[in-house]
Amino acid sequence: MFTQEEMENLLKAGRIGAEARNIGASLVKEGASSREICEEVEGLIIKRGAKPAFPCNLSINEIAAHYTPGLDDDLKIPGIGVVKIDVGAELNGYISDTATSVAIGDSFKGLVSAVERSLSSVVSLMKPNISIYDVGKTIEKIIKESGFRPIKNLTGHTISRYNLHAGESIPNYPDRTYFYKKLRPGTQVAIEPFGTTGRGYVVDGSITNIYSFSGRNPKNVSGDALNLLNYIKEKYKKLPFASRWLLKEFEASKVPRMIGELVRQKALIGYPVLIEVSKGMVAQFEHTFLVLQNEVVVTTK
Ligand code: CO
Repeated sequence: MFTQEEMENLLKAGRIGAEARNIGASLVKEGASSREICEEVEGLIIKRGAKPAFPCNLSINEIAAHYTPGLDDDLKIPGIGVVKIDVGAELNGYISDTATSVAIGDSFKGLVSAVERSLSSVVSLMKPNISIYDVGKTIEKIIKESGFRPIKNLTGHTISRYNLHAGESIPNYPDRTYFYKKLRPGTQVAIEPFGTTGRGYVVDGSITNIYSFSGRNPKNVSGDALNLLNYIKEKYKKLPFASRWLLKEFEASKVPRMIGELVRQKALIGYPVLIEVSKGMVAQFEHTFLVLQNEVVVTTK
């Protein structure tokens, strides 16, 4: 079970994450810069005394997840579509993870509302020892009733200290293999329904702007790449970071080569943008939950 100190950190990380998410959503307007929105969101988390648990993800339309501005790209908010903001705060290693979607124009309000309602239904259903199967069942039911599909290969996840994906997945559909798997007291979990107008699968895209340290130390890299890796290990541990964050300390002209070396040596894992396979529009909502002995608390309300 969580100690009182853990609870305090987890709840505060949740409140900061929620505030950052809401500020991000309020900045989503046609023509706005992804870079400016993400910097604002990450700056707010730092101002509140925490750190971003991972880069601000601002994924537009058929990009379901993992877009953050890179070293020299900066997507602008379109005039029509769906923008997902997925953010998290880290406080002494304790993490929150939360997301919302904003419909630009009227065309995709129905999709956004269906996915939002699917997360609300999870919030009302949550209780200690709930079956992971039942969580996926309610998510799929609500999204399908509205005429959309859940994304089957994106899932929620358990969270532990300094670890954003602590081992268990929470599918967005009733997966039989999870029938007897339960969310036990003492578990922290992020539940994140994704809904789409498309086929309901994501594939890797060509842009990668988010990385994390894999835990493997490279055998054969240049001195400056090793220096960069030591900086990353010290500063971000194994949590995801944005390549653009490195520009505070390292020269922009050298960063791509150093990252390339570290990825080839498997010291860094890259997280490419995830794109809906049929280019369907994608909406996402996410909250972080603490499963306690007699109740379940939403930290990112
Ligand atoms: Co998450």
